[in-house]
Amino acid sequence: MATLEISDLHVSVADSPILRGVNLTVKQGETHAIMGPNGSGKSTLAYSIAGHPKYTVTSGGVTLDGEDVLAMSVDERARAGLFLAMQYPVEIPGVSVSNFLRTAATAVRGEAPKLRLWVKEVKAAMAALDMDPTFADRNVNEGFSGGEKKRHEILQLELLRPKIAILDETDSGLDVDALRVVSAGVNRVHAAGTTGTLLITHYTRILRYITPDHVHVFIKGRIVDEGGPELADRLEVGGYERYGDGGVEVPTAAPERKPLPGTPGGAFAPMPNVGTLASGQGPGL
Ligand SMILES: Nc1ncnc2c1ncn2[C@@H]1O[C@H](COP(=O)(O)OP(=O)(O)OP(=O)(O)O)[C@@H](O)[C@H]1O
Ligand SMILES: [Mg+2]
Repeated sequence: MATLEISDLHVSVADSPILRGVNLTVKQGETHAIMGPNGSGKSTLAYSIAGHPKYTVTSGGVTLDGEDVLAMSVDERARAGLFLAMQYPVEIPGVSVSNFLRTAATAVRGEAPKLRLWVKEVKAAMAALDMDPTFADRNVNEGFSGGEKKRHEILQLELLRPKIAILDETDSGLDVDALRVVSAGVNRVHAAGTTGTLLITHYTRILRYITPDHVHVFIKGRIVDEGGPELADRLEVGGYERYGDGGVEVPTAAPERKPLPGTPGGAFAPMPNVGTLASGQGPGL
């Protein structure tokens, strides 16, 4: 059974310590929700596991089935079975969705999917996510609405079927119908039993559709509380106040994130999805 093990992980960004000793084990077939306030380091955790070069691991470890994830390049992490659905998916002008997906699937599966079967597979996955087939010919995320970007992340999840999926605020910006459709996608992948999911979220509303086995409260760079789904309900009512600083002394002046020019929402420098860092170009659909 695939197991992602995060042990005492410390990560700095631009010389500021952000993660301060994260311990977490996610197994295939399990769903873990991580909930925490803005700026607590949830995306930092996701990016560190995925291998974003801006995030420096200063101590601790991450293993997947005993293999040292931190020693792997980003594409090796994807091939090993890790997947990140980003909080702010990036646009990739000039690369069509169909080309992108096939290239990713080829890299992750180790061989190009048979064309006719692949076309059927993609069409079925898009239909299940209520995506118009014309999206296959559009450039990745270019001009996509917030909700369309999130569906596209889950489309990748469905097609790549990773061992461990990290979904960073996949629910943010979704209307009620989209939330239902996207959650159903996550649940389909879960039902196959071969994927462990780390679901980062602010809101319990997605947890009405996706039932986590474990809920972790994340404050100031570490997990300070754990429980079952009922913990999420308590947080909805009481917020994070009762956790204070999570028992951590934190320097007050954390450096400002610098949004990229032209990227609404303060997105970082683009990092390709780990699930899609394919080498070489595959043919389109
Ligand atoms: N590249 C960076 N440069 C400087 N600071 C950064 C960088 N990336 C993250 N940080 C800082 O690290 C802290 C944690 O950010 P992170 O994005 O991980 O939080 P989060 O828990 O995901 O927040 P949110 O709920 O708003 O998405 C923040 O104070 C942020 O400003
Ligand atoms: Mg975040």
